[in-house]
Amino acid sequence: MARIVGAVATSHVPLIGKAIACGLQAEPYWKRFFDGYRAVHEWLAAVRPDVAVVFYNDHGLNFFLDKMPTFAVGAAEQYRNADEGWGLPAFGSFPGAPRLSWHLIESLVAAEFDVTTCQEMLVDHAFAIPMALLWPGSGPWPVKTVPIAINTVQHPLPTAARCFKLGQAVGRALEAYDEDLKILIVGTGGLSHQLEGTRAGFINKDFDLMCMDKLTHDPRALTGYSNAQLVELAGSQGVELLMWLAARGALHASVSTIQRHYHIPISNTAAGLLALENSA
Ligand code: DHB
Ligand code: FE
Repeated sequence: MARIVGAVATSHVPLIGKAIACGLQAEPYWKRFFDGYRAVHEWLAAVRPDVAVVFYNDHGLNFFLDKMPTFAVGAAEQYRNADEGWGLPAFGSFPGAPRLSWHLIESLVAAEFDVTTCQEMLVDHAFAIPMALLWPGSGPWPVKTVPIAINTVQHPLPTAARCFKLGQAVGRALEAYDEDLKILIVGTGGLSHQLEGTRAGFINKDFDLMCMDKLTHDPRALTGYSNAQLVELAGSQGVELLMWLAARGALHASVSTIQRHYHIPISNTAAGLLALENSA
């Protein structure tokens, strides 16, 4: 049977992709940020997951305001990245795991999560940059992938409680899969940030650190926030915390911390990294 080894939640700011493309990891602005990922690289090298199931939010590359699914699951052989206008070289394509995707989709619909199924899906910076952060280097990707997109662009967004329950349903479905696979859950976005308007540059360190505590030991404590509260406390793009909650929902109640890292600022954001290992 498949086993979920743990989850990594990480920021996905496009500027990180620029730093990777330009080899700036050791520059003063970037060093502390990139050094935070070393412990995760060591853990991934030891655990060697086969598949990454990635909760992320599309920012307008694959879905736009004309059609915006609340939850969408990829079921493709490959997922291509493409130019979003950030000035980043496009990442190539990411290998899919369609049999696992369809198992997940069937299980989610049976659990009353009526997801949009995507047999073709472009994946944006919110998917590609975390992959490049977790598995740096130029070789082929060492994992197959299943993208799960959560709408954080067009209100109404799914609630924190709903995203946590989606993660729980994903966790149950993956652990009922009949292949001996090691699965890593990834959640991308955040932490507090706001890119536009009079609060552009808004960051809330106390709230972010509290969220990282609660995600580790008591994630349900975060499920009571409304999205309006999350916007107020974490900024309009800080709602990307929803992906962290979904990822945490897929883990067991008891987890151990592999790495926890927080860095201000990357671009206009508070960048966070939380890697949790599932209890046996
Ligand atoms: C930035 C942050 C994001 O989460 C994003 O998706 C795009 C840009 C930023 O801080 O520049
Ligand atoms: Fe984003």
